[in-house]
Amino acid sequence: MWTTLDGMRAAAQSRKIADLFAQDAERATGFAITAEGLRFDYSKTSMDAAGRTALIAQAEAAGLAQKRAAMFAGEKINETEGRAVLHTALRNLGETPVLVEGQDVLPEIRETRARMARFATSVRDGSYPGDGRRITDVVNIGIGGSDLGPLMAVLALAPYHDGPKCHFISNVDGADATDTLEGLDPHTTLVIVASKTFTTQETMMNARTALAWAGGAAALDRFVAISTAEARCAEFGIPAERVFGFEDWVGGRYSVWGPIGLSLMLAIGPTAFEGFLEGGQAMDLHFQSADFAENLPVMLALVGIWNQQVCGHGTRAVLPYEQRLTRLPAYLQQLEMESNGKGVAMDGRPLDRVAGPVVWGEPGTNGQHAFYQLIHQGQQVVPCEFLVGAEGHEPALGEHHRALVANCLAQSEALLKGRSEAEARAQLAAKGLSGDALDQLAKHRVFSGNRPSTTLVYPRLTPFVLGQLVALYEHRVFVEGVIYGINSFDQWGVELGKELAGGLLEAVASGQAPEAASESTKALLTYIRSFQS
Ligand code: F6P
Repeated sequence: MWTTLDGMRAAAQSRKIADLFAQDAERATGFAITAEGLRFDYSKTSMDAAGRTALIAQAEAAGLAQKRAAMFAGEKINETEGRAVLHTALRNLGETPVLVEGQDVLPEIRETRARMARFATSVRDGSYPGDGRRITDVVNIGIGGSDLGPLMAVLALAPYHDGPKCHFISNVDGADATDTLEGLDPHTTLVIVASKTFTTQETMMNARTALAWAGGAAALDRFVAISTAEARCAEFGIPAERVFGFEDWVGGRYSVWGPIGLSLMLAIGPTAFEGFLEGGQAMDLHFQSADFAENLPVMLALVGIWNQQVCGHGTRAVLPYEQRLTRLPAYLQQLEMESNGKGVAMDGRPLDRVAGPVVWGEPGTNGQHAFYQLIHQGQQVVPCEFLVGAEGHEPALGEHHRALVANCLAQSEALLKGRSEAEARAQLAAKGLSGDALDQLAKHRVFSGNRPSTTLVYPRLTPFVLGQLVALYEHRVFVEGVIYGINSFDQWGVELGKELAGGLLEAVASGQAPEAASESTKALLTYIRSFQS
């Protein structure tokens, strides 16, 4: 199936992106999609028209259209867990039934969302908990998908905050709970224990610590739970009326659209939260209806596959020029690497290629002053994904936004064009250098250029736009997974470490390492124990 694309490797790797622009005066528009108010520019990559045709053919051959329909229809496409994949139903504001085993799931989703909205409103207007003290702070305790989605979104939508201040505890490191709870008043703090399974070690430990901090059982009326496991919530002491549930067909890293998004709803209010859902739903409709060549998630995925499989670049930097998207790279790390960091195909056969790049990043312009050196001159090529809003939220600081946009555009331009040795020499000569000094310094000032990047421009980071972006990235992961033939919706790779941590917990306390532990781990334990009294 990969024969055509594999056959393009040599040409793609020796191609100059600048030549593609020289050969095609329309490239800047022909290799960009403007849809749903967004513009995705992938012209600064080495993809040519033949490459795009081959990628689209590959997507068709992988049955993308059928698999996409199966996902939205609630079929059990998460085969290794025997589950449907229906996070899209959480943002489906329409009336057409979505069936799982013959049952329409939308009424229950609507009912839960209405309960969330009633609860959020009562917290926001001060009528909950009804002891005369208003909730001023919310602490979400969760990890992975029960943390990164709401954390990322709460930070992203700061201009829309008009509710209590939201805080997040995720790490089992006691420093996280200590530093987060420091200064908060337990009488005016609402604690959300967010865990799909309600068994995750970190979350349950942090929840117990927070309960002790709040004053024990008497404080439970300021605790709510978000989980698929109502009975475990009851065991913890949180009654059903304060549990917001969801079904197992919502994966943790895809769950921000439902109850896991409660902290976001508390921060921005139910109406703005609905705007976020509307953005996600708009992207769902686009993904289901646009031709592949004009389809934002499809082309985002195909560019990624081109960069990785044809050009051989194993990493991808996500570089939002938007300070409020500071946790987007971390969010995407889970979304993409937990979904597509797999070694076997759906049927268990080993993959014959590496699926899914290493995803990392940091907002610009900060990253420019840290790791962009490697991106521009290091020997490893890093495809870059720039994101930028056409407008910011600070009209009074227009100068800042103009500088932000200029920097974003400058980086992709520099990556594309580079600087030749002749240009470097001319610059140095103009500064008065000559001879050996010029010869030596010029080499350090050469930029190879020809480094791929894409740029995604959105109007302004509103709840609707954030919803579009998150759904866009979710569907990209799905498209990539379909093309690799993997299951993007399980995460067995996290289990082994969890199991071993369970066994080592006792060893850390007692100093008795399990017999089966490696000599290295035994020696590390002995060393750590030597510090404990
Ligand atoms: O360890 C991985 C994981 O299972 C993620 O997939 C999930 O988002 C996270 O842990 C948290 O799980 P839970 O919501 O059940 O506490």
